[in-house]
Amino acid sequence: MRPMPDTGRQAAMLANRVGKTFRVLQPLFERRGVGAYRLYDRDIPEVRAVIDWYEGHLVVAEYERQQTAADPGWLAAMGQAVAGALQVPPERVHLKRRRTRPAQGPRYPRPATNKQSRLIVREGPLRFWVDLDGHLDTGLFADHRETRARLRGEAHGSTFLNLFGYTGSFTCAAGLGGARSTVTVDTSQTYLRWTQHNLELNGLWGPQHELVRADVRDFLQRGARAQRRFDLCVLDPPSFSSREGSPGFDVQRDQRALIEGTLALLKPGGALYFSTNHQRFEPRLDQLRAAELREITAETVPLDYRNRRAHRCFRIVA
Ligand SMILES: C[S@@+](CC[C@H](N)C(=O)[O-])C[C@H]1O[C@@H](n2cnc3c(N)ncnc32)[C@H](O)[C@@H]1O
Repeated sequence: MRPMPDTGRQAAMLANRVGKTFRVLQPLFERRGVGAYRLYDRDIPEVRAVIDWYEGHLVVAEYERQQTAADPGWLAAMGQAVAGALQVPPERVHLKRRRTRPAQGPRYPRPATNKQSRLIVREGPLRFWVDLDGHLDTGLFADHRETRARLRGEAHGSTFLNLFGYTGSFTCAAGLGGARSTVTVDTSQTYLRWTQHNLELNGLWGPQHELVRADVRDFLQRGARAQRRFDLCVLDPPSFSSREGSPGFDVQRDQRALIEGTLALLKPGGALYFSTNHQRFEPRLDQLRAAELREITAETVPLDYRNRRAHRCFRIVA
């Protein structure tokens, strides 16, 4: 089938744009030993895609299904054009469809594939497993690269708590930075296992790293009763979450309870990094009982993210 005229024109513009960006970013990140970074995020408004580089692979995602609704071959055409410009072979191109709002039914359909999709990604001295076809999210959020570097610099000798830990990238950063012990909390056994694999990959796995399968809200209550205390914490919840048998979660609505509950588990002077990817997040943190609260988003969103609010990040001292 011949591509629709708009598709061909957009593919050419996209390839040109991404080629230019890659020539700037690639040497810069290679010098730092960083293998995963963002190449494109709706830079051209009519080309509604996000493109990430993972160690020679391209993940090409469409924002919702607007463009493939008009032309079912749109996403493949974008992938092919960018791959051509960057000389990436077709088996290293991974196409995805993003949703910007929560939807009914399973969120992450697993596409049938025989490509190599699991690989190891470098981030300075850290290494992470990613899965480029398995889920919409790959297992690594590159927008928190600077936050991880910061944590690594701050973690020495600390007891570290990672809430909504996902694949444990913050846990690995704290561990490599010399944290005395870590606790990673997540409801998903799959992600806790992935955390263990990432800790193993970094030569860190051992009894000082505890993986806890729990709802964060239950963990915070139990921790308060047991008077557990930590030096350093990351709280990076999803924007929304719903699971059968447990109350729904909405970061905008629940931010204060969550942050207060976490601060209760910190030692005086302990630091909490609170972050959210919610694009319309408004902090409601006035008169929070904390020694210090500072938004550090400008320092934590990395230079490859054109969206300077890819996340919002706050450093709060208990
Ligand atoms: C957006 S990710 C968090 C990102 C992560 N901190 C990172 O940067 O790597 C969402 C994670 O939260 C977990 N999760 C969702 N609701 C939860 C809850 N109520 N308690 C604990 N974990 C939850 C999911 O299983 C998933 O691993």
